[in-house]
Amino acid sequence: MGITLDYTLAMDSGCRCGLTDAHLDSAQDRFAQGLHDVLARVHSDELGFWSLPSDANALDEAVALAEQTPAHITDVLVLGIGGSSLGGRAVYEALGGPPELRVGRRIHFPDNSDPWRLARLLERLEPKSTLAVAISKSGGTVETAAMLLVVRGWLRDAGVPMNDHLAVVTDPKNGSLRALADKEGLTALSIPPNVGGRFSVLTPVGLVPGALAGLDVRAMMRGADQMRIRCEAKELRKNPAGLLAALHVLHHRLFDRRIHVLMPYADPLRGLAAWFVQLWAESLGKRRDRQGTIVETGPTPLPAVGATDQHAQVQLFMEGPRDKLVTFVSIDERPDLEIPKEEGPTGYLGGHTLGDLLDAEREGTARALAEDRRPSLTVRLGALDAEHLGGLMFVFEAATALAGEMYDIDAFNQPGVELGKRLAFGLLGREGFEEEGVRVRAAMAADPKGYTA
Ligand code: PA5
Repeated sequence: MGITLDYTLAMDSGCRCGLTDAHLDSAQDRFAQGLHDVLARVHSDELGFWSLPSDANALDEAVALAEQTPAHITDVLVLGIGGSSLGGRAVYEALGGPPELRVGRRIHFPDNSDPWRLARLLERLEPKSTLAVAISKSGGTVETAAMLLVVRGWLRDAGVPMNDHLAVVTDPKNGSLRALADKEGLTALSIPPNVGGRFSVLTPVGLVPGALAGLDVRAMMRGADQMRIRCEAKELRKNPAGLLAALHVLHHRLFDRRIHVLMPYADPLRGLAAWFVQLWAESLGKRRDRQGTIVETGPTPLPAVGATDQHAQVQLFMEGPRDKLVTFVSIDERPDLEIPKEEGPTGYLGGHTLGDLLDAEREGTARALAEDRRPSLTVRLGALDAEHLGGLMFVFEAATALAGEMYDIDAFNQPGVELGKRLAFGLLGREGFEEEGVRVRAAMAADPKGYTA
């Protein structure tokens, strides 16, 4: 399908970084057991993300929603956060073309309850040509609920019919978003209950924004399905997700390379790097293992983009702590620009393309890291199209699940985000969180230290 995982420079033979074939072979049994356990949970319907690429219903519903959306709707406001926003945003940024040149519907992902962006968007957008899509698996996420209240007020003040300008993507039965949709007769698409937020890009969470933008979401699912088959291979060296997972976990566990950098040499994949960060961090950063023992484990994912970050983070990657494994992403076929030949110091560039320059810089960076015994992987995409993107996103999701098995943690929960939410609810005076409010206020008042200029 045109996705290659090149791990030459992640091995001792390629970069003298310590990881040998014997280490990789030793991971075979753990990988095989992990794959078996993940697939058992898939087959018992406990784990939904693995089967999504063949979910024709979700695809048809998303495409139908896009087809039924009238042409005068020129802007779509996606109201969601975390897994309910990052996947759709990554798809749109990767396939929708450069922001200045986008044709067709514009999709906006405020992605946060920070008014900085939403306030300006609401000033600029016309309610009558805007469709808001509220996305929340739980239906109760406070940031999304707050954005939705603001946007509903904005639509109401403009006097446009709510059910023509607001749709929701949420749980099929539960939660306040589903209740709102039922009560007001809003168009509502479902996220399967057995799919967690950060694994939901191939549900209406990613498909609806993609279809509304006119992207080829069918090809995206096809690419993901082809990759799914490859990710079921039982031999570690033939399984791209197993390899990705094992290389990262082994480098972390054996050599303390705990910072996992994703560095596409491609501007359209900035959103993909942000999506990967959430997927890797929220899935793998855990206090307890599956036996309940405190392990406080998890790699730290770090986004970077080439060549921009060669002038920012690469200095750190080259000379800073030896705690990183960098995954480069390259694209073979892309729109390109030839560099004209001119006499003078830049004469050597003439006849090359800007793409050649990016490739040479990526190769140079990877080789420079290797010369200093610092490992990297390269994921090569044949092209940046919907099919390759679907395959790429699936392999990262599958790798996350398998890495969870290798770390022996539950990759599908996120207990660590709860306390901060409860304390914030206490501060906001939400009923049932009075004790938290008292506690956090007392903590804030006790012996504050700071400096004000
Ligand atoms: O991966 C996750 O489960 C989270 O990051 C959620 O996607 C995020 O918290 C948003 O949740 P919800 O979709 O319920 O609004």
